[in-house]
Amino acid sequence: MKKLVVANWKMYGQPAMARQLAAAVVQQAAQTSAASVVMCPPAILVADIAKSLDNQMVAVGGQDCHADAEGAHTGDISAVMLKDAGCSHVIVGHSERRTNHGETSAQVNAKAARAIVSGLIPIICIGETLAEREKGEAEAVVGAQLRQSIPDSAAQGNFVLAYEPVWAIGSGKTPTTDDIRQMHRYIVSVASERTGVAPAAVAVLYGGSVKAANAKDIMATEAVAGVLVGGASLKADEFCSIIAAA
Ligand code: PGA
Repeated sequence: MKKLVVANWKMYGQPAMARQLAAAVVQQAAQTSAASVVMCPPAILVADIAKSLDNQMVAVGGQDCHADAEGAHTGDISAVMLKDAGCSHVIVGHSERRTNHGETSAQVNAKAARAIVSGLIPIICIGETLAEREKGEAEAVVGAQLRQSIPDSAAQGNFVLAYEPVWAIGSGKTPTTDDIRQMHRYIVSVASERTGVAPAAVAVLYGGSVKAANAKDIMATEAVAGVLVGGASLKADEFCSIIAAA
């Protein structure tokens, strides 16, 4: 299976920088047949980036979508709007949304379901805080998030999971590859049980302080289908090295 390398730009990026970065990524992706690349810019840049990438080498995703098809939801964006703008994927349940916007796993579930029915692949994020890990509750927390966040419509090939320990995001800290292997195995088993999808077909990305220097080891770890990259996805050289590491 190809490794999936996803860029999460968060709330960064101006049009000129975005086009430049996209062009560099396309060039790298063309040389790296072992990787599928998805770029998730801020919503306002999605259509522009999708247009600039229409050679299909690199896919585009949103960073969030609303659970409803449409409605009176000022400031929100629908899955169909993302799809129409050229997206194939959408991140849902990122810990920054769970924390800063109070999103619950039930809401994440509804968003993921809306994404699937709209023809997008949701990248469903789960992960424990440092306090939860230190209390020995990492698996219990992640297990509960998984059971509640994965929608009933999840089936082989229509969803992706991303394990992002909250304490590793933007911190420069990462779990050991042993810890990643153990958690990914656990996630695969819970997700397989929840969805009926065979363990080998459950895709789990790792995210949290992925950079060029650790991408190879992380992607070589058992049960790691790819990476979700924040900060390092905004630097062309760094992100291209991560793609090359696949
Ligand atoms: P980071 O962010 O790579 O900057 O740690 C990852 C993420 O939040 O998806």
